[in-house]
Amino acid sequence: MKSKQHAPVIAAGFVAIFVIIQFIPVNRINPPVEADIQVPAEIKAILKTSCYDCHSHETIWPWYSKVAPLSWLIAHDAAESRERLNFSAWSRYTKDKQHVLISDVIDIIRDGEMPPLPYTWMHAGSEVTPDELKILEEWAME
Ligand code: HEC
Repeated sequence: MKSKQHAPVIAAGFVAIFVIIQFIPVNRINPPVEADIQVPAEIKAILKTSCYDCHSHETIWPWYSKVAPLSWLIAHDAAESRERLNFSAWSRYTKDKQHVLISDVIDIIRDGEMPPLPYTWMHAGSEVTPDELKILEEWAME
């Protein structure tokens, strides 16, 4: 066989692999909300828009989160981010830990690290604006 004739075989192989990996189970569960963080509506709105897809049990799973192999990355990200900071299980943290997390939240937004890329590319308007950051800072100082 000439090498040109291999192309369709290789392409068919990729398609087959793509189809097969779709059957590997992925955990996209949203567990029940245990104890949602109690904050003013204005603060909640910012957190919901920019953070809740990862740091809560209220993840909205977009269509591409259902397509392997991207689904594996997204599910892994959600699991890890909930483990680090979970607004839906806020009462699991001691008061001291809650204070630390809130100051981490402010710092990480100030540094422009959260919400992360490529999430902000895929979710227009998810970036925390300077005005929103100011609102969060004032709330965090209370
Ligand atoms: C696309 C998912 C995603 C979004 C959206 C997101 N995060 Fe994260 N976040 C992560 C992941 C994954 C980690 C853990 C890995 C890391 O530190 O990069 C993390 C870690 C953190 C940490 C560090 C926690 C610790 O102490 O280890 C803080 C604080 C944080 N995020 C705050 C936020 C805030 C505030 C928002 C919204 C403005 C936000 N994140 C939005 C995925 C996300």
